Amino acid sequence: MSKIKAPEALVIGLLFFSPYFLFSQGPITYYEHVRPILEKNCIACHRVGEAAPFSLETYEDVERRASFIQMVTETRYMPPWFANPEFRHFRNERILTEAEIQTIAAWVKGGAKKGKEPKDLAIAAPVTYPKPDLVIPMNKPFTTPGNGTEQFRLFVMPSNTQEEFYVKGIDFRPGNLKIAHHARLMVDTTHVFRPDDGALVSDTVLPATNLGVMLASYFWYGWVPGNFPTLYPDGIAKKLPRNADILLNMHYSPTTTPETDQSKVLLYLTKEKPRRPVKTFVLDEHWISNQPFYIPPNEVVTFYMRSPLVPADLSLINVLPHMHLLGKSFRSFAITPDGDVINLIKIDDWNFNWQMTYQFDQLVKLPKGSVVYAEAVYDNSSNNPRNPYFPPRPATTGWGTFDEMMNLIFEYIDYEEGDENLDLYQALKEK
Ligand code: HEC
Repeated sequence: MSKIKAPEALVIGLLFFSPYFLFSQGPITYYEHVRPILEKNCIACHRVGEAAPFSLETYEDVERRASFIQMVTETRYMPPWFANPEFRHFRNERILTEAEIQTIAAWVKGGAKKGKEPKDLAIAAPVTYPKPDLVIPMNKPFTTPGNGTEQFRLFVMPSNTQEEFYVKGIDFRPGNLKIAHHARLMVDTTHVFRPDDGALVSDTVLPATNLGVMLASYFWYGWVPGNFPTLYPDGIAKKLPRNADILLNMHYSPTTTPETDQSKVLLYLTKEKPRRPVKTFVLDEHWISNQPFYIPPNEVVTFYMRSPLVPADLSLINVLPHMHLLGKSFRSFAITPDGDVINLIKIDDWNFNWQMTYQFDQLVKLPKGSVVYAEAVYDNSSNNPRNPYFPPRPATTGWGTFDEMMNLIFEYIDYEEGDENLDLYQALKEK
């Protein structure tokens, strides 16, 4: 057989696309070779007004940090991306190819040359969004203690809406990008969380979480730096119940001086009941088959989840696996009644700091009768550098960051013929 095997193909690919090939065309320069890579993979976050700590928009920005950039790209620390692309690709995926990493390294080694400035230098402007219909800020500004600790806080943001609305789009605007690390929005109609506004969720148990209340939504929106807002096409929207409270679970980075934040949620609303409501499908610790969800100290444990039979054909929009600091890896797939396997997500090296929502490239059809499986590995030994306790302590379910969780959350709409080709994000591109 004269078939080219994958590693050989890779070698041939590298020969053609490697810096050595580029060298033969002349020196590697910022404008010609490096900037296009940064534009595609870095600048969404590393631009003025965005969440990364510095801008990488100009030659000076980049040249000053050239070897640092080489390091973070060679180690694949940047761009942050955790889902294994061999298992499944996502719409919001950002991954450098081996050739791109080598190009950056060769550019740095070659003296970080500027090259000839092209005439048309404009970096695509950030996407602009229409004016929101409702802006809900945190009740009052919150100031971090500035004592070098991370802060996990719960904020209760009453919507004060007198009728039921449907949400076509959601955007989250951190009030202070220096400290905003990530945020998760949930929806509550019971109002029992109101006394907990501003409470710490890191090491205390909130009184309200003990009441076993059912939230109207356990996952409404997740924000991490570089996120895209959601804006669904006409006829697709999710519910905001009358007078609901939006619960904001906010992670603030540590700082040595106090910082103040008043983040807000921007909503695009309609009163019209959508033809296709967006729903959420949450698998939590109850669906673990090897109960109890208890992680003894000094052990590495794997938990397995199995969903009930999916009751109808569904079109999955996105997926959000959720674990805390002991989480190491996560994998989920579905098996259809015909025995086909649908890969959903695989994270080989879980990073608590990046609670990303993974947007499927195209809607994923989950046929009626399918079962969703998930497996998650937790390392509660002191080999896990993120273990919050030394010596390790037993861990079990809880909202606190030092407790553990195993959640798998999907947003979906009921399947309709042709969904495989529906572009959910068209509305964003047109704006
Ligand atoms: C999704 C948003 C996002 C993207 C895309 C992104 N960064 Fe970052 N970057 C961040 C954030 C947030 C930080 C600060 C927190 C951290 O270090 O994890 C950061 C930190 C860094 C740092 C400093 C690391 C340190 O240890 O202090 C460098 C250098 C960097 N990024 C370079 C890049 C480069 C080069 C790219 C593209 C190849 C890139 N980033 C893509 C968000 C992003």
